[in-house]
Amino acid sequence: PAPGPLAVSVIGCGYLGAVHAASLAQIGHRVTGLDVDADRIGALAAGRAPFHEPGFSEVLARGVEEGQLSFTVDPGDLAGCDVHFLALGTPQREDGLGADLRYIDAALDALEPHLRSRAGRPTLVVGKSTVPVGTARRIAQRLAPLPGVHLVWNPEFLREGFAVADTLRPDRLVYGVADPNGADAAVAVALLDAVHRPLLEAGVPRLVVNYESAELVKVSANSFLATKISFINAIAELCDITGADVSDVAEAIGMDDRIGPKFLRAGIGFGGGCLPKDLRGLISRAGELGAVDSFAFLREIDAINTGRREYALRLARRALDGRLEGRRVAVLGAAFKPDTDDVRDSPALDIALRLHGEGADVRLADPAALPGVRRRYPSLPTADTAEDALRGAELVLLLTEWPEYRALDPVRARVLVSRPVIIDGRGVLDLGSWRDAGWEALGLGRR
Ligand code: UGA
Repeated sequence: PAPGPLAVSVIGCGYLGAVHAASLAQIGHRVTGLDVDADRIGALAAGRAPFHEPGFSEVLARGVEEGQLSFTVDPGDLAGCDVHFLALGTPQREDGLGADLRYIDAALDALEPHLRSRAGRPTLVVGKSTVPVGTARRIAQRLAPLPGVHLVWNPEFLREGFAVADTLRPDRLVYGVADPNGADAAVAVALLDAVHRPLLEAGVPRLVVNYESAELVKVSANSFLATKISFINAIAELCDITGADVSDVAEAIGMDDRIGPKFLRAGIGFGGGCLPKDLRGLISRAGELGAVDSFAFLREIDAINTGRREYALRLARRALDGRLEGRRVAVLGAAFKPDTDDVRDSPALDIALRLHGEGADVRLADPAALPGVRRRYPSLPTADTAEDALRGAELVLLLTEWPEYRALDPVRARVLVSRPVIIDGRGVLDLGSWRDAGWEALGLGRR
């Protein structure tokens, strides 16, 4: 392919797709984003970000302004594109197991006539969505009769809160192809390399593997990260029993670079749209493929994780002497992690809802997630600021480690509450300085 900008489409403009589209425009391509949600497309086309993500509004607005980036609901607008990225959601199926692939199938149905009209010109379809192993080869078979059309499975590893930076500077690019040594792969790899040229020139490593490996890389990475978190959370429980401190244990084991310091923060566990879903997806796919026993431990990883929410709730109940009814509880944080308004499978929101369900007078604060929370749970009382939430509280729970919550001043906060008791569900506060300010400060696995 000729060097220089390409005409690229991104199909599915949810979180992943919208970030991907704007990032590709940022590195010079002409990008068209397609989605069936006309409201979302309207907002994006006007340069308005439909979700909270640091740095995204800027690249979106710039792309739209400079004419590099456009959005549409009409698949016909994609006919001239050389490369199509599939960035559709693959939600957990209703039965709780496996992934629902209907959005990918529908996108391929819409795209197919336009792929046909390319009349043999090299055209690339790139899967970004997380799918059960075996899906890409099935899609490749479906596309095989279309001359000139190639499929690469190119999983995405971006983290919410760092999405634009992670897209433009990933740790690695993984290309899954039918046969890494086949002639067909060379054409596909060259086209996708042309899309990623600035990243490759900046030294981002790129691996070409088969479809199944690419699919497994994605779910293995997320399941491994989940395993690290549940491992340290299990150790945290033992720390509470024995008097050890989990942050000391994590720091010391993390200095062994075979283990590494990251994803060893103990607390109320992982949430979000990816780790829990990918873990369950891998368990279910492994089961379908006959590897039930070898993946039983991942069920434990999931169970340990959800158990952390119950663990925090027990601490909260104990801190209120078992009587929750009508007691004012400040909950700081609803998002599944800081720098996002995403509350999918959020441990923080789950705990807040359960306290509310048990009769506590909850005041939930979050710097970004409240509009969504209010829409979905109108009866859950919220507070616009941490200060409002703290006022009159008999118990404070820090459940999402937003920078502004980490920076709370225990002396000033002490004046607002009616009883100075705080539970740090994320292991981020200096408990000593809170105790010095007159608080009963409790951590999970910490002294
Ligand atoms: C995760 C992966 O980190 C990304 O690489 C991947 O691309 C993404 O899923 C995806 O599949 O799309 P993300 O869900 O944005 O990214 O969030 P993480 O930063 O991984 O955090 C996940 C959860 O783990 C959060 O609830 C966080 O609070 C929790 N966590 C993280 C801990 O409890 N302890 C830690 O030490 C680290």
